[in-house]
Amino acid sequence: MRILMVCLGNICRSPLAHGILRKKIREFGLEIEVDSAGTSSYHIGDAPDSRMSETAKKFGVFIDDLTARQFVVSDFDRFDLIYAMDTSNYNNIISLARNDTDISKVKLILNESHPDQDLSVPDPYYGGDQGFIDVYNLLDETTDIIMKKMTN
Ligand code: 4NP
Repeated sequence: MRILMVCLGNICRSPLAHGILRKKIREFGLEIEVDSAGTSSYHIGDAPDSRMSETAKKFGVFIDDLTARQFVVSDFDRFDLIYAMDTSNYNNIISLARNDTDISKVKLILNESHPDQDLSVPDPYYGGDQGFIDVYNLLDETTDIIMKKMTN
């Protein structure tokens, strides 16, 4: 199983989702590959936003080693599941899909914890510290449910 987390910049939400899920996969000793990407080119090559990595660290999750990259069409071939952080990212990924198989791989991540509600992980980039904590809590909850599905 290979899972890709996607947001806009690949410096806040998707690297955190990547880091949290990677930690849980290691704890469970599972053979699941996880990666992350952004739909935009804004931050290619950048480390995660320091506000996000500091928040993650407080919860025992380390993401400093990650580097932003842009989503590419070949990611549809490399990954089995592609989780979009928000509806805008979802639509951007779907606009690159080549066929129904590609489309079927793309899901809104919060539909794992809040089925059929099509909720978005709020973009914390222009907000305050609480926004980063809220993103952590949402992604911790939803990755717990992803892990339950993977271990059943
Ligand atoms: P992310 O947050 O999509 O969670 O990585 C953002 C990072 C950068 C920008 C927007 C959102 N930006 O406009 O540069």
